[in-house]
Amino acid sequence: MSHLPLDDDSVSNPSTQGHLHDLVAQSVAAQPSRRRLLQAGLGAAAVPFLSGLSDVSTAVAATAKAAAPAERMLGFEAVATSSADEAVVPPGYRAVPMLPWGEPIDAKSPAFKPDASNTAADQERQMGDNHDAIEFFGFNSARSGFGDRSDEGLLVMNHEYINPEYFYAPDSDPAHWMKPFTAEKARKGQAAHGISVVHIKRNARGEWEHVKASRFNRRIHGNTPITLQGPAAGLPLLRTAADTEGRTVRGTFNNCGGGRTPWGTYLSCEENFNGYFGWNGEHKPTALENRYGLSKDGNGYLWHTVDPRFDVNANPNEPNRFGWVVELDPFNPDAPPVKRTALGRFKHENAALVVAPNGQVVVYMGCDERNEYLYKFVSAGRFDRRNPQSAYNRELLSEGTLYVARLDAGATPGDRMGGGTWIPLVFGQNGLTEAHGFQSQGDVLLRARQAADRVGATMMDRPEWVAANPRKPGEVFLTLTNNNRRGTEAESSNQADGSTVAGSAKPAVDEANPRPNNVWGHILRWNEAGGDATAMAFQWDLFVLAGQPGIAGERAPSANVNAGNIFNSPDGMKVDDFGRLWIETDGSYGNTGDFAGMGNNQMLVADPRTGEIRRFLVGPSGCEITGITFTPDRRTVFVNIQHPGELGNHPNVPKRADGKPYADNDIARDPLRFSQWPVKGMRPRAATLAISRIDGGPVGG
Ligand code: FEO
Ligand code: CA
Ligand code: CA
Repeated sequence: MSHLPLDDDSVSNPSTQGHLHDLVAQSVAAQPSRRRLLQAGLGAAAVPFLSGLSDVSTAVAATAKAAAPAERMLGFEAVATSSADEAVVPPGYRAVPMLPWGEPIDAKSPAFKPDASNTAADQERQMGDNHDAIEFFGFNSARSGFGDRSDEGLLVMNHEYINPEYFYAPDSDPAHWMKPFTAEKARKGQAAHGISVVHIKRNARGEWEHVKASRFNRRIHGNTPITLQGPAAGLPLLRTAADTEGRTVRGTFNNCGGGRTPWGTYLSCEENFNGYFGWNGEHKPTALENRYGLSKDGNGYLWHTVDPRFDVNANPNEPNRFGWVVELDPFNPDAPPVKRTALGRFKHENAALVVAPNGQVVVYMGCDERNEYLYKFVSAGRFDRRNPQSAYNRELLSEGTLYVARLDAGATPGDRMGGGTWIPLVFGQNGLTEAHGFQSQGDVLLRARQAADRVGATMMDRPEWVAANPRKPGEVFLTLTNNNRRGTEAESSNQADGSTVAGSAKPAVDEANPRPNNVWGHILRWNEAGGDATAMAFQWDLFVLAGQPGIAGERAPSANVNAGNIFNSPDGMKVDDFGRLWIETDGSYGNTGDFAGMGNNQMLVADPRTGEIRRFLVGPSGCEITGITFTPDRRTVFVNIQHPGELGNHPNVPKRADGKPYADNDIARDPLRFSQWPVKGMRPRAATLAISRIDGGPVGG
């Protein structure tokens, strides 16, 4: 087994004994390149680390305040691509890693062991692996709940999966470091999934610290009780021997993107949950199982071989309890998270929430697999703006209507613009009837992919993150990361009867997905009719087609791609309050062929009005960049560096004695050989990056 064959084609990881602050100092001091960057941003002045930096920052900030330069849309110098094992930010910025995999979640939690020998019980009290969606929730002035402080709050992030090659210390089988696999190893893996809530505070020197004694520090992991709520809760298909009511699930897995609500809760999205399940012995998959991608061996985690909960033969309904959006109140450490079934079950990427002019809450969501769909949920109730955190608002995601998008070519063929409609997925409408196998509204939601097949939704090039523009009501962006099953062979569509095996269709190109074998991906933009997120119609265009600017014809990128900003596979995305579109990539870092010159995964910033795109950040070897959140004052942007050190096709993958590149079984036994990010001398670990301007100004501006 090489790395786990995830549907999102990418596949990461991270320790420390001391406090966050110790790690930061240790890490930065160990990386001369970062020191160089800081110096570059400050001219020729020597910068004594770290305390000396704050003195300089303070002086520069005071000067900036006097001059008060206007904030600009792209007010930074572009960074070059890189294949180096470091994070690179523009001159004048600092990027500080924090909260790596294994970091103790609070003052009483066990320390990370650099040889990856921590137990499952340890891992349940440490940061999970492969950080993904991240949101900063500022405290109120009393520091008792949700508010708008920019100097102290709760950083909430989810943990998508594990990289077993770094996660498990090698065992006795020379052919496979994970074997013999045990129930303890499965439980440790489960413990590194889920969600982390971390209390952080900006100190007098402008550095972020983990407040370890806080009661808010919390881990939600693969065995934490979670409430199932909404129209599907309690359905027979959700009941198991351990939960005969179908209302309490253990854990949440493969949490990818996420989102936030205006009442101060965090949304976490279950994506490739299918990969944790498998079966022992014979099993003939049902249409439902096929449509959601269940398979005999899953994605190689081996849990089903030692834990009956993940064996489809032993617990056939357990997979149905995953694939939902989870809502968590980080300010209430005693409240169980809730799976909101009204938002549908599919391979969720993120959840971008907008309050429409009439107060209805709209949540945009992509289903990330080749040729899957774009959805939106519209709440039945209306947001009470006067009491944002009311108990009433907190139930707005429990009831509403789920829609799926159909896109058309519009009035002018070939101009890569068109129209679209939202089709309701409501039991009894549009063929979603008992005659077609649907039993109830809850059943429609549980089988949302099959319901979308039935109503003729448009198959897209892997819908990843959705981002709504807070500066232009109704404008929304969607990353379509890539699709190697578009327009390349004999064509086929998802079957209306819902019988298609996940990811197996091969649709022709269309205007919204215009390139065959779309290896670089693109970003679609739409505007809801009347600027109203609840509208049933929209107009779309293509904001950018990524690729190589030297290529002409049907594979050509759009005009806003040039030699200075090339990238592939846009994935994470958010529009900040100033209106900048931040774009993160999770694609090929091979730096050769179609991807020549693109280097490691990166983050770019675009001006939605002009289409101009500029590179802001390049990540270390083997990582993806994902998750993005800002303090309310926009002085810090937090992003996650997921799976640093993943081998893939990186140009610097080490070679074995026989000349072949390292495989996972090699790197597992020699874990410092490829990447040592973020701490020199230690195995690579997923971590959060806190990026700020040295002069204290707004990031990006
Ligand atoms: Fe987990 Fe689709 O990215
Ligand atoms: Ca058109
Ligand atoms: Ca993603």
